[in-house]
Amino acid sequence: MNFIILTLIFSTIRGDDHSSISFLARKLVTNRSENVKVDKFPDDFIFGVGTSAYQSEGAWNVSNKGESIWDKMTHEQPSTVADGTNADVAANSYYLYKTDVDLVKQLGANSYRISLSWPRILPTGFDNYVNEDGIRYYNDLIDEMLKKNITPFVTIFHWDLPLDLEDLGGWTNPSIVDWFVDYARVVFNAFGAKVKYWTTFNEPMFYCMYGYQGILAPRKNWSGIADYLCGHNALLAHAKTYRLYSDHFRKTQKGKISLNLALFWTVPENPNDQEEVDAADYMFEFRNEWFLHPIYSKDGDYSKIMKDRIANYSSIQGLFRSRLPAFKRHEIELIKNSADFLSINYYSVVTVRKFKNFDIKETISYDADVGTRHTPGAPNNASFETENNECDVKNCQPWGLSKIIKRLTQKYSIPMIMIAENGYADEGQLEDMDRAKYFYYHLKEILKLIKEGINIQGYYAWTLFDVFEWDKGHTFKLGLYSVNYTDPERARTPRKWSPKLLKDIYTTKTIPSSFLSFVNENKNI
Ligand code: NOJ
Repeated sequence: MNFIILTLIFSTIRGDDHSSISFLARKLVTNRSENVKVDKFPDDFIFGVGTSAYQSEGAWNVSNKGESIWDKMTHEQPSTVADGTNADVAANSYYLYKTDVDLVKQLGANSYRISLSWPRILPTGFDNYVNEDGIRYYNDLIDEMLKKNITPFVTIFHWDLPLDLEDLGGWTNPSIVDWFVDYARVVFNAFGAKVKYWTTFNEPMFYCMYGYQGILAPRKNWSGIADYLCGHNALLAHAKTYRLYSDHFRKTQKGKISLNLALFWTVPENPNDQEEVDAADYMFEFRNEWFLHPIYSKDGDYSKIMKDRIANYSSIQGLFRSRLPAFKRHEIELIKNSADFLSINYYSVVTVRKFKNFDIKETISYDADVGTRHTPGAPNNASFETENNECDVKNCQPWGLSKIIKRLTQKYSIPMIMIAENGYADEGQLEDMDRAKYFYYHLKEILKLIKEGINIQGYYAWTLFDVFEWDKGHTFKLGLYSVNYTDPERARTPRKWSPKLLKDIYTTKTIPSSFLSFVNENKNI
């Protein structure tokens, strides 16, 4: 018996595939006595994996799809992307969606998070012309999921704005609030009967902040002004869409709707300096709560610290009015409570340091308003440049997620939480034990929170396979499956460890307690 088990473990180490039995499950048999699994995720817990439209679909100009701001930017200014690539073909998911759903299934996941491409559905951005091929494509994809008992989790906007709308001012034009609601209406009518989890926006903070710091499309330099207009209009568009869903679709479609917020825990580079400690804490509130406070707080509206600081700096800068637009009373009410759950994209803790010696009178920028910035080279959103490049409990900092969740659940009334993104970036090698460890530590942390009574109902690993990583192009990979980008077929290959570990957790609903001893015993594999 032991011989058979050892052979199986050994062959797994060699990379042989025994997909029906996970390497961890096999290991568990050998160590049954040390593996009393008392901790279990709830039976109805959602175990998912995600991708997004522009990052994965390709087929950029197929069947009447309109152009997006990312198509234009990557075509006309390839140097804005680290390796000069674009997502014209991407992982080819427009054609390979059945394979993708199969991969989701193979991971033992019961949900798949995707996003819809606004220009594929409404090529000009407006709802007077609905592209039938776009509707067909997403219906096929969603039907394929349902056929395989995979629950769709759909994000309506994941950064690929129709170009025509950008030409009209994009997210800085208040009319976009209604344009977005009109797009959402088309989407609810077309797919709402089959979708139970919706998010309107993906990470509006990064989209608005970097879009107007010249980093992400539309790549304009209006930091400190356009980012706040963008956020303001996104909050209104989100809330109006939420109300539209509640008034016209919720009763028959019975879904839940929220928005994905990128949240991170901030730690001061110098914890012995009280000024630095306060600045890191201030950054947490200023940045994370930009979108949280108007939606989840009792009084609604932007947080006081955000309103006070921007008003104060605006006045020092000689402006008559604050650069942060003000909500009208009825808008505050509209936005308040406009989410059925809190959808968190979490990657890491960020180390920050205070800006020193700058003249606020001369510096209009979002970063100057925040007053702190990331320490260069410190782990950041999905990029782990740790000293030994190893994920351990210290480097991967899963406790950051608990800190965020505890702080927010104490402060706000949050009905339920979904972790909509969590993942580990590396250079794309198949050997990905650090990614496996990252998932292990984070899922363990989530289970701990659930046991403490926090209502977390789902978890989505990011990403299913390697995708186009925005300004990083293909230099930065998070996939559970590697994609061969030199192959026109875009073949997918499972990475060595993370799919096995996730499958084990997703199918047993437990964290394998033998995992770390397995890692230690096999240090040199
Ligand atoms: C968050 C974004 O939502 C997603 O598009 C991106 O791929 C990941 N971060 C990793 O950078």
